[in-house]
Amino acid sequence: MAKWLDNAIFYEIYPQSFCDSNGDGIGDIQGIISKLDYIQELGCNAIWLNPCFVSPFGDAGYDVADYYTVAPRYGTNEDIKRLFAELHKRDMHILLDLVPGHTSVQHEWFKESMKAERNEFTDRYVWTDGIWEEPQGMSSIKGFCDREACCAVNFFSIQPALNYGFYKPEKPWQMSMDDEAPKATLEAMMDVMRFWLKMGCDGFRVDMAHSLVKNDEDGKGNIILWNKVRDFLDKEFPEAAMVSEWGEPDKSLQAGFHMDFLLHFGPSHYNDLFRCDEPFFSKRGKGSAKEFVKKYNENYAKSGGKGLICIPSGNHDMYRLAKWFDTDELKMCFAFLLSMSGAPFIYYGDEIGMRYVEGLTSVEGGFERTGSRSPMQWDGSVNAGFSAARADRLYIKMDPDEDRPTVEKQTKDDNSLLSEIKRIIAVRKKHKALQSKGKLEFVYAEDYPLAYIRSCEGEKILVVINPSDKECSFELDARAEESIYRLGKGVTVGSGKVTALPQSAEFIKIG
Ligand code: NOJ
Ligand code: CA
Repeated sequence: MAKWLDNAIFYEIYPQSFCDSNGDGIGDIQGIISKLDYIQELGCNAIWLNPCFVSPFGDAGYDVADYYTVAPRYGTNEDIKRLFAELHKRDMHILLDLVPGHTSVQHEWFKESMKAERNEFTDRYVWTDGIWEEPQGMSSIKGFCDREACCAVNFFSIQPALNYGFYKPEKPWQMSMDDEAPKATLEAMMDVMRFWLKMGCDGFRVDMAHSLVKNDEDGKGNIILWNKVRDFLDKEFPEAAMVSEWGEPDKSLQAGFHMDFLLHFGPSHYNDLFRCDEPFFSKRGKGSAKEFVKKYNENYAKSGGKGLICIPSGNHDMYRLAKWFDTDELKMCFAFLLSMSGAPFIYYGDEIGMRYVEGLTSVEGGFERTGSRSPMQWDGSVNAGFSAARADRLYIKMDPDEDRPTVEKQTKDDNSLLSEIKRIIAVRKKHKALQSKGKLEFVYAEDYPLAYIRSCEGEKILVVINPSDKECSFELDARAEESIYRLGKGVTVGSGKVTALPQSAEFIKIG
């Protein structure tokens, strides 16, 4: 595993909405380059960039029409090469977004595949063998081309599913993973990876990584497939880093991914903490981290240190964290996110508590996700410093609130969320025990507070987090040596007991 993952803290950039350098209303690569110093000052040392390739943008770029070319609205391949160089100069790294499960209907492969006559790409996608034969358990499209068949789609109807085969083929049109066409699809995708890795990117975030091999309920086929990719990477690009959108680390890390995200869907109970009626991090103190911890422990044990379980503050598919929490509560969320094992991921704007913008019309297949994708709020200038374009030309409308948070305001304010996050990251960077691979042991997760011990090479750090507005305690035999971070009034350790004051968190070195 690449060494830099040991202390990686990721920042997710949705390129459309981060920084517009040429005033056309949409973010671009030059804009990202101009903000690298900001990301570095925040303390993040790695970026996950959402898809930036040629696309009709029916799903914000998750419908790729050309895997090899940067979408002109963001710049050119030369620009992204410059971005790689600028990052590496700062000892930072970048993962591009690989969308291997489907393409756009406008991709050249699909145009060929739609034809009635057989050609090289006939079997590149998952087609049935009759116009009335629908693939069971999958959505599909039909009747839009001369080919007498239905084509399975992976997500929206504009995203036909690439053919990696079926784990257990049951129908004549279902190929096995070892058939020539599915093997060629995988080869083609590895070529895409090779192209960008050679150009200087550091790895990939992989879209819907669990979904490539079909009829694969327990992930067995996809585990085989991704291990082939891992073998290829280990041979040709041993420093490459791969994070999966899978949400089941017990499977994805076995599949050879270096990291997997916990997500707002799937079995992880991630939502119990942040996104439900009574989230654990609310000061009402009615939530529970118990199921989350139970599942986390299972995954942690099963993955056996093989890879990292990563917890994101949010992403472009979820409601913004600030929809549930005020600033004090957000600070608690980050005290947790930034002291857990695995590499944390911060979604752009979450570091200043950007809000979910209500009532927006969908943009590029965003639907309810659109409100989490609004332009980054930099300062008090026009369009919050995101773009010099006329307000009605912006890709997505700004948060209209005059009091919206900005980087400028929060940089000046020592009490802001942004300042707090910088402090927490600085502490994490000083202590190996708090970083990606420091050992994690939960010591209390019954109700409030949540407590765990992070340890590495003889250093032991007790993390106690009490988001609730009530004092709470639990029994623990530990000797406090030194407090290395405190939020709120803090935590006391002694006489076999740990007591956390209301809305407090503390990281304490213990003997
Ligand atoms: C997951 C991506 O994060 C999401 O934005 C996209 O719409 C789907 N996969 C389909 O690619
Ligand atoms: Ca632009």
